Amino acid sequence: MLLWRRNIKVNHFSYSKGLSLPLLYLILGFLVVLILPLLIIYHVDQVNTVNDFVAPQIRHTKESVLILHTSSGNVIYSPGLPNSVDLSERVLCSTTIQPNYNYLSRIKVEYSCEVDGVIGYELYAYVGVKLAGFSTVDREFVNQLILTSDYSNNPSISAETNTHIQLNQLSISRENPKSALLPAEGVNISPAFLPSRASILWNGEEALRNHTARNIRFDQMHHQTRWSAGSDGSFSLKIDYEFPTVLSQRAAETWAHIKYGFIQYMAFFTVFAVVFNRLNDFLFENGVFASFSKMEKIYLYKKEI
Ligand SMILES: *[C@@H]1O[C@H](CO)[C@@H](O)[C@H](O)[C@H]1NC(C)=O
Repeated sequence: MLLWRRNIKVNHFSYSKGLSLPLLYLILGFLVVLILPLLIIYHVDQVNTVNDFVAPQIRHTKESVLILHTSSGNVIYSPGLPNSVDLSERVLCSTTIQPNYNYLSRIKVEYSCEVDGVIGYELYAYVGVKLAGFSTVDREFVNQLILTSDYSNNPSISAETNTHIQLNQLSISRENPKSALLPAEGVNISPAFLPSRASILWNGEEALRNHTARNIRFDQMHHQTRWSAGSDGSFSLKIDYEFPTVLSQRAAETWAHIKYGFIQYMAFFTVFAVVFNRLNDFLFENGVFASFSKMEKIYLYKKEI
């Protein structure tokens, strides 16, 4: 045996008079309740973007250019620039990369050079970075130029630097603000201006220009360096690149669009429907539509055997 009850609300009109005022009111009311939420969510751009926490995956490349400032001029170390640096300007260095077994997003590199009296350095390092929505067309690492530099007051034998690298998403054009959203495409994932590929043309200025032409890119946020003063004919630079988990903004995929759109639509729709229903009750109960009565709740009971 099944027993149920239905609440039915009936708004009662006389149809014989044609399009009466209350009917017009109801039709317009329903249209507003149905359409207004659409207009609102259409104008709320948040529907189109999703925020995500992601840990970048990083990979060392052998491509780097280290410029050491000494009291007697600059010297350059770059494995990728074998012939374009004058012999007198070259410096001999060895590189050690600490394996990052435990850290997905961390790399330590050490340069040990045969040079005396270093008072500053500029390091143009290329680091391969990959995260969901940020990779080359064949899902490989995108090389990013990370420029780090620091200066000391005294000739030094070593410098140890910690650096934090962050994802930047810069909207460069008003017409296309979405160009700063992941997934990255076009110039944002174009090849880097590597010293080995452009050994004659490579210079710091051009390399920076190539990197900053991207509106989705990794850049150094801040760094700290400890210098050790001294002089023994050698200089070592230890640099620890840390890529903290980033909050990335990406364009919503179609299903996410539909999901968020639907949730927002229902939220607004529910509120409007409730308000409209209350308003109706109020208007009818107060006899605003004087010649029309609203039948109150009818309770139907039905028994089924
Ligand atoms: C950077 O340089 C490389 C190599 O010359 C080039 O293929 C790439 O398109 C450049 N990217 C940008 C954003 O200028």
